[in-house]
Amino acid sequence: MKLEAEAIAPSNIAIVKYWGKRDKELNLPLNSSLSVSLDSLWVRSKVTFDESLDRDEVLINGKRLDEREVNEYAGRVLRRFRELYGKSIFARIESTTNFPSSAGLASSAAGIAALTFASNSALGLGLSNRELSKIARIGSGSACRSMFGGFVKWNKGDLDSGEDSFCEEIFPPNHWPELVDIIAIFGEEKKKVSSRSGMENTTATSSLMKCRLEFVKETFEEVVNAIRTRNASKFFELTMRHSNSMHAVILDSWPPMNYLNEKSFRVMEWIAEFGKAGYTFDAGPNPHIFVLEKDMDEVMKFLKELGSVKILVNRVGKGPYLV
Ligand code: ADP
Ligand code: DP6
Repeated sequence: MKLEAEAIAPSNIAIVKYWGKRDKELNLPLNSSLSVSLDSLWVRSKVTFDESLDRDEVLINGKRLDEREVNEYAGRVLRRFRELYGKSIFARIESTTNFPSSAGLASSAAGIAALTFASNSALGLGLSNRELSKIARIGSGSACRSMFGGFVKWNKGDLDSGEDSFCEEIFPPNHWPELVDIIAIFGEEKKKVSSRSGMENTTATSSLMKCRLEFVKETFEEVVNAIRTRNASKFFELTMRHSNSMHAVILDSWPPMNYLNEKSFRVMEWIAEFGKAGYTFDAGPNPHIFVLEKDMDEVMKFLKELGSVKILVNRVGKGPYLV
C-alpha cells in the first residue's frame, strides 16, 4: 500500500529570533519568536508512505541524505506521524527547492514544513495548521513558523509537553503590501556550525543570554505594534536590534563562533546610515534587508556595488498548500 501527497511551503525569516531551547527533543524555545513568510523561496515535498520501505528516505534536489541527517530532522516528524496514524509505515520524501541549494540559504524550515503538511494529507489525518506547527517544530524549530503565511508568531509555551508551543498568523500576507525583503547572497559556503549546535553552545555558555531574553520580552509587543500600524522606521529599527541581539550572544559563546563576515558588517553600517531600511541575519553572512518598495532601488544599487553574487526579492507570502 502507498499513501502519497505533495505540498509547497514557504521559507521564513525571523524578525524576533529563536536562539536557545528549554527542551532539545521537542525543540521548545526559550523565547517566543516572530517571522515573515517569504513568497519567492519555497520547497516542494512529495511524501510517499510505503509499506515496502524498511526505513525513511529523504532526497533533496535528487541528493540522498545520510541516515543520521534523516533521523535528526525529517525522521522526527515522520515518527510523530506514525504515532498518530497508529501504524509503523515508513516514508520516502522527495524534496526540491526553487533556489540553488548551494546558495547558502537555509532550506530546512520550508522543507520540514512542506513534508509535515503533505504527510497530514497523505495519511488523511485532517489536523489543523496549528496542530501541524507543533509537529513541524519537533523536526526543526524554525519550521513551525512556515506552517502559516503572512506575519507569524511562535508562542514559546510553558508546558513540558510542548502542547502550548505552537504558531499562529498574526497578520495576513496582504497586510503590508509595500514591504519588501531583499536577500543578498555573498558566499555559497556551508556554515561551519549548524544553528542547532550553535544555539546549544550559546545556551550553555553565554552570560549575556539572560539580558537578551529580557530584551525580547520587553520589546515583543513593540514589534507587533510596529507591524500592526505599518510604522516602517520603528519596524526597521527593531528588526536590526533583534538581529544584533542574537549575534551578540553568539559572539559571547564559548568556544567562539561568528556567522557574519566583512560584507555583513558593511551592510550593517550602510543600512544604519541610509535610515530607510532594516537588516537582519540568520546563522549566516547573507543579509535580508527590509525596505519599502519606493526605496528599494537605492538598496539594490548599494548591494550590486558591494559585489553580491545574487540578489533575491521577496514579498510577504502565503502559507503551505497542496499541489
Ligand atoms: P538550516 O536550514 O538549519 O540552516 P540546513 O539547510 O543545512 O540547515 O538543514 C539542516 C537539516 O535539515 C539537513 O541536514 C536536513 O536533514 C534537513 N533538511 C534541510 N532541507 C530539507 C528539505 N528540503 N526536506 C527535508 N529535510 C531537509
Ligand atoms: C538563526 O530552526 O534551524 O534561523 O530547531 O535546532 O532545528 P533547530 O534550529 P533551527 O534554528 C533557526 C535559527 C535562526 C533564527 C530563527 O529562525 O528564528
